[in-house]
Order: sequence, then structure tokens, then C-alpha cells
Amino acid sequence: MLMSGENGGNSFEWRKWREDFGGASIQIQIQNQKIATMTSPDGCPYYHPTNSSNISSSNNDDPTTMMKKKPMTVRDWWPDSLDLRILHQDPLDARPSHVPHPSSATVAAAASAATTSFSSSTASYTSYATKFAKLDLHALRNDIYKSLTTTSHPAWPADYGHYGPLMIRLAWHSAGTYRVFDGRGGGGSANIRLPPLNSWPDNGNLDKACRYILWPIKRKYGQSISWADLIILAGNVAIESMMGESWGSVQPLWFGGGRMDAFAPEEDVNWGHEPEWLKDDRHHQQQCSSNGESSTGLEEPLGAVQMGLIYVNPEGPGGNPDILASAKDIRETFSRMGMNDMETVALIAGGHTFGKAHGAANPSKYVGREPEGASIDQMGLGWKNSFQTGRGADAITSGLEGAWTANPTKWDNGYFDLLYKYDWTQSKSPGGATQWVPNADSINANGGLDAVATVPDAHHGDVKHLPIMFTTDLALRYDPIYGPISKQFHLNPDLFTVEFKKAWYKLCHRDMGPISRHLGPYLPDETLIWQDPIPLAHYGTINANDIRNLKASIMDVIYSSKISISDLVKAAWASASTYRCTDHRGGANGGRIRLLPQKNWEVNDTTSLDRVIAVLEDIQACFNDHHKQSNSNTQVSFADLVILAGNVAIEEAARRAGHSNVRVPFVAGRTDALQSETDINSFQVLQPVTDGFRNYDGKDARPEVMLVDRAHLLSLKTPEMVVLLGGLRVLNANADASSLVGVLTDRPEALTNDFFTNLLDEYTTWSPVGDDGKVFCGVRPTGKPWKASRVDLVMGSNAQLRAISEAYASVDSSNHFVNDFVRAWTKVMMLDRFDLLRIPNDDGITTETVFLWSSKRNVSKL
Ligand code: HEM
Repeated sequence: MLMSGENGGNSFEWRKWREDFGGASIQIQIQNQKIATMTSPDGCPYYHPTNSSNISSSNNDDPTTMMKKKPMTVRDWWPDSLDLRILHQDPLDARPSHVPHPSSATVAAAASAATTSFSSSTASYTSYATKFAKLDLHALRNDIYKSLTTTSHPAWPADYGHYGPLMIRLAWHSAGTYRVFDGRGGGGSANIRLPPLNSWPDNGNLDKACRYILWPIKRKYGQSISWADLIILAGNVAIESMMGESWGSVQPLWFGGGRMDAFAPEEDVNWGHEPEWLKDDRHHQQQCSSNGESSTGLEEPLGAVQMGLIYVNPEGPGGNPDILASAKDIRETFSRMGMNDMETVALIAGGHTFGKAHGAANPSKYVGREPEGASIDQMGLGWKNSFQTGRGADAITSGLEGAWTANPTKWDNGYFDLLYKYDWTQSKSPGGATQWVPNADSINANGGLDAVATVPDAHHGDVKHLPIMFTTDLALRYDPIYGPISKQFHLNPDLFTVEFKKAWYKLCHRDMGPISRHLGPYLPDETLIWQDPIPLAHYGTINANDIRNLKASIMDVIYSSKISISDLVKAAWASASTYRCTDHRGGANGGRIRLLPQKNWEVNDTTSLDRVIAVLEDIQACFNDHHKQSNSNTQVSFADLVILAGNVAIEEAARRAGHSNVRVPFVAGRTDALQSETDINSFQVLQPVTDGFRNYDGKDARPEVMLVDRAHLLSLKTPEMVVLLGGLRVLNANADASSLVGVLTDRPEALTNDFFTNLLDEYTTWSPVGDDGKVFCGVRPTGKPWKASRVDLVMGSNAQLRAISEAYASVDSSNHFVNDFVRAWTKVMMLDRFDLLRIPNDDGITTETVFLWSSKRNVSKL
């Protein structure tokens, strides 16, 4: 048997094999990495290694061991069955018990909503906030500063005697995986410490930044600062340290703490399907409807153009040094990070004002395996470099080599000065990568090589180099949109500084949700529209008596048939269910359901929603006028009212099903945002393209997969997803209420467990209607046939979901069903109630508590 090894990358799926029986050759892929190709001269399909020299000594990738010992799992056998694992995963549950858990405050608030007291899971969330509040941030910042500027680890000596640039790259790569489509990625959980990100080729040598520079600080401060907060704070301190004249006089950059660490890889994030590093199978041809021209589109929700990159290839698309095409890639990917053109230019230019690229020699020749694939004695560090000393002047990271400015550890306008001063020509780094240097004419026109070679060597003070640019840097000068912005920054350095700081704050905090989730004294002094601001209430919040009166008014409109239970349930669901636990955007607070773009989304059934808005605005106006006239400053917000109305509808639906004492918990305090406080474009990405809970399948061929995805965004566990779906069906909360798809009951709008009993009826036979396989007809012995969707049927066809459905379909379960439905419903309605987060005062946990968002909020100027 012959074998040829190939060291590629390492990845996050446990195993993938491709067997090519025709040629009797087997490609073994372990963790998505092609380890070896074996050919069998005798046609034997089994692998009998005769020479293992090409196989890494990694602790986890010995193919023989894997092949013999790894048992087949249910997923290995049926890879296409509905994957529910993301609803059970909790990377944070893998944490040691003394590390605070960020269990959504809202979950706990939901559980105890009626009293607004907070349960133990909130206590554990607030435990981090409490620890953080007691943290001496000033001392921590000083420690980081000292570590960046005065230490140099022998295994990874600091370039220019300053770890600042490396730390900025760590923070940027940590935060830069965020993408707007699903809110996943980003630096909110320090997932850069875990696979696959810890081993992405683009993150080369960032392990050193964590292990050699930050770990001693993390060890000292323990659980008072999470890794995720520490990484971003260190990026801030790095910038501050290179911005000011003296450290003591530096104004801290905006910073909000509150990130909680993951302790296991996040399984919900789709990083792409390519089984090889730096592959690009994610672009597809698309036709422009107006002019018929075709172009390539990047698959959603991915944020990067190639597997294993944070954003784009520095050498140009696919390594092709095409400056304008590179600009297109940058625009596409940075907009997926939520950045506009100005922010993009500010970030790239600002970032590359600092530091250097490392490519002393060819990476493929000298650099070893990434951390996950490296041998056990490397203790989780990777990219061992066998070129000369393997560090310092011999370091190899990207394979590109050099710095952009003459002062790589100082904030100045050098990047733009040089970008515009020279004309650039393609060149090769010692590592063989394509980069750009000033061309011969520019060198001659500017006083010759010695005068142009102004860039200091990072380790030999007397040596100077030519400045370099990447293809992506030149895009900032030559792209017709980036060009004028760069020119503006070049001419106005103060503007550049302000825009860089703002864009940096956005980059590092985009995934943290509203400002009420941010901790610490360095919060911005201005309202930023991308944070989806929720105004503070300047009026008294409704009390129990007001709530009783409002409920009576809502009941009146239900009884007078101005509005149906279905309408009210749908409006409340539409309002709350935009929430995403990934970046904490969306939700009912702000009352944005009555604003653009949400009120016009097809999934929200605009006719029904308009009806609800009109009726509830009447009730709101009437209530608020009455209070004004009685000199009371109490007001009700639309945001509260729409949830209260949904709750009332559910209580009434429960009563109609024979459960007369059901009370749906309600906590007032939401406020209404204005249209001017709502960035329509930015909100557009929250529009559900499918929503199985409302039987809205958009154009998705497998809406049940998207149901699971949405359930995950709503932080739901599988049983909560099932009970909500069954309840919403009998309440006829379908986006198209007239379709009655999945409404498996003869008494819609009564909160019965009929959906489950009828779905699981053993005499009903189901078959697809039409060719698209989306709607099914259920013929039963008596009565009209049912209609159902894939999402409905999967509750009976998938064994795991069926097990839960059975539990709700049995005769003794109707009370359990109603209780569980109300609990899960309340959880969703409360998901965004960060305004209720409180931490104990110094004197203990039982006395007065303070709201995180108010008393902890000292503001900071840029
Ligand atoms: C088009 C987008 C970008 C590309 C393609 C890119 C690419 C790269 C590459 C290839 C390196 C060299 C890594 C090495 O060999 O050590 C580098 C270094 C660096 N990048 Fe970027 N980058 C981009 C945007 C940014 C942004 C937005 C920031 C921060 C705001 C940033 C900050 C840095 C810093 C500070 C370094 C120097 C690190 C050091 O000295 O160790 N980059 N970048």
C-alpha cells in the first residue's frame, strides 16, 4: 500500500471520509482535514499503513486509531436527519462551576416574572457583573499596559519592543467574525480560544498573544474579567498606549464589559462547508434581474470569502492581486460585519497604522500544524516555525512581510501619507506572497532607496526597510468609493482618529446588544443608532391596578370582535420573536413592531398587524390621556401593551379550553423607540425569511431546519420549541391565518393540546399535495382532511420530536401543556428585558439592588 501525506488544516467536524471505490483509493479526512491519500495496488479498500512518517504525531489525528475506535453515531448513519444538537448545546455549560454563567437574565426573569425577583440563574449572570463591578479596572489597564510595553517573552519576542499591534490583531480577529445575518460570530464569547477559530490559518500565532501575554493577567484577575472582555480591553489598551504622548494622560477608549466565555466550541455557527482551509466554494453565480448580467455572490450567512479567513485574502481574491476586485470583496465582507464604507476604511487604515506582517520564509515549508492538530507536547500552541530561530526576525505568520508605516507603534497619519506618496509595484515577500512596494520611479523621485526605506526593522534597530502595502490596502486608494474617503482621512487626520475610534468600538461591541448590557465606566457618551437604542422612560410605569384596567380594555375588544385572539397572539409573537441570543438584537422592547421596517414584513401578516396596531394605539391613547387629565405621570408604552394584549389573548384561549385560572406573567417597563431611532437597513437583517412557528416557510426547501435555527436564536430548548409550536398552531398564529395549515383542531383559538393529539392520530394518513413537497394532506376516518407543513409533520416524524409530542398528546397532559406553553411563551416575551438586570449592592444580595444600566453607567467621551 502506498501512501502520500498532505498536511492541510484541521476543522470542526469530527470525521468525513470520501471513498472512491472505482480506483480503490481512499481519502481519509479527519476533522475535515485531508490527512492522507492511500492507494491500494491490490485494490483492497482497507487501510494498512506501512509508513506513518507523513502522518502528524498529533494527539487526535491518528487515522488508524480513529478508524478502528470511533464508533458510528446516529448522525454518521443519517447525516440528513434534522439536527437538534444546537438546542442542547451550551458551550457555557462546559464551564467550571465557579465561573459565572450568563444564563439570560430574561430566562430567569420569565420564570419569576410576576414578582420581578431574580432566580438563581440570573444570580449567576449577575455574579459576573458583580465581580466586574468590583474589579479595579484602572489597575487592570495598567497591568495590560505594562505587559504590552515592558515585557518580551523569549518564545515570542515583541516586535519593536511593543506587543500592542499583536494585541490589536487579536482583538480584531476575535471580534471580526461577527456577521449581521444571524448575529453569530464576534468576540462575545472568546471563541478564538477554541476550535475551529483557534486553529484558523488567519489566526496564525494569535495563540502566542493569549498564552504568553494575556494569560499571566487572566491568571491574576481570575473570574473578575472574562477572556472575552480581556481580549477586547487589551486591544483598547494597545491602541491607547500607541495613541497618547504619555500613558497617564491617555483618555480611555469606549469599552463595555459583560462578555461571557464559552468553554466548548459553538456548534450553531456555520463557518462554511469547504473541507479544506482557504478553499472557496461559497461564491455562486447570480443573475442581475435588471440587466441580466451575472456576478458572483457570497453565500449567506458567511462573513469571509474563504474558509479559515476572517474576511478577505490580503493578496487579492483567491490570491490574484486585482485591486478593484479586492475592494469588492472587502465591501461585501465588511458590510456583513455591519460596517459602512467609511467605517471600513477607518478600520483597515487604522489597524495597519500599527505593526507588521510576518513572512520571513515560506510558511508551507517551515510552519507546523495549527494548535488543534499540533503534537501533544506543544500544549495547545501551534504553528511551530522551523525557520532559523523560528521567532522574532524569523517569524512566519501570514507569509507577507513588512510594515506599512515608519512608526509602527505610534498612531499617526503615516499609513495614508505613504499610501499616497508612492506609486506601488508588485513584489514578493521572502515567504513568497504577493505584496506591494514603492516602484522605481517613486523611489527615484523621492530621494532614492535610502530615503524611501524608512520602516524600522522590528528586531534590529539599525536596519531599515521599504514600506509595504497589501493588495487590500491599495483598494483603499484606488476603489472609486474608498478612494475619496481615504483622501478625506489623509487631509484631515483628526477626522480619521475620531472615525477609527468609533468604528473600533462598533467592531468590538456589535455583538453585545443594547447598551443596557454593557458594564463598566467607559461607556459612550452618545447614543449610537446601531445599538438599536431603547429610550429611558420619563414617566411612571403602569402598576398592577393599571394592568388590570388595561386587560379589561383588551378583553372588551376581543369580546366585541374588533380583534381576534389569533391577531393579538401573532402581534405579540412578531414583536418579541425577532430577538437573537447571538447578538442580543431584536425583541419587543422599543415597540418597533409598529415602525418600519418591521410593520411591513410579510411574515407579520400586515393586514392583521395593522388592525392590532390601530386597536392598541386607541387603548394606549385613551389610557395615557386619562392619566394626564388626572395629573398622573403614568403612561403605558405600545411595547408593553402589545405583549400584555398577547398575554390576555392566551389567558382567554386557555379559558376557552377549560383552564380558567391561567395567568400569563407580565412585567411592565418596556419603552417605545421612535422611527428616527431606528436604522431601517440595519433592522432589515432581522426579518425572518422563514418562521416555522408561524408556518411561514418563505422559499426554504427545508423550513424545519430553519425552525431549529430560529429556536436557537430564541434560546429555546427542544421541548420549549415543540410546545410553543403546538400552542401557536391551535391559536392559529400562522402568518397566513386563512391557510389553516397545521391548525389541527376543530376549535381554533382555544389553548388545547389538539395539535399533538391529532398529529399523532394513528388512523390519519399523510401525503404530499403538489410537487413542491411543502404542504401535506392528512386524511382521517371522519371529518375534513387536515393540512400540514413539513414543520408540522416533523413533530411526528422525527423520533426525538415525536417523543416530546407524545408527552403533550396523552390524556393526562393538558394542564402540563398549558403550563409549559405559558412558561415558554413568557420566556420569549422577556428575552430582551436587559433593563431588568440588577446586581446586588455591596452590602449583600438580599438588600437593595441596582440596575446595571443606570447606576453603573458612567459615560466616557471620545
Ligand atoms: C481587508 C482587511 C484586512 C486584511 C486583509 C488584513 C490582513 C492582515 C495581515 C495578512 C496581516 C499580517 C499578519 C502577520 O503576518 O503577522 C495583518 C496584520 C495586522 N492587521 Fe490586518 N488586515 C485587515 C484589516 C485589519 C483591521 C480592520 C485591523 C484592525 C482594526 C487590522 C489590524 C492589524 C494589525 C494591528 C496588524 C499587525 C499585527 C502585528 O504587528 O503583529 N487589520 N493584517
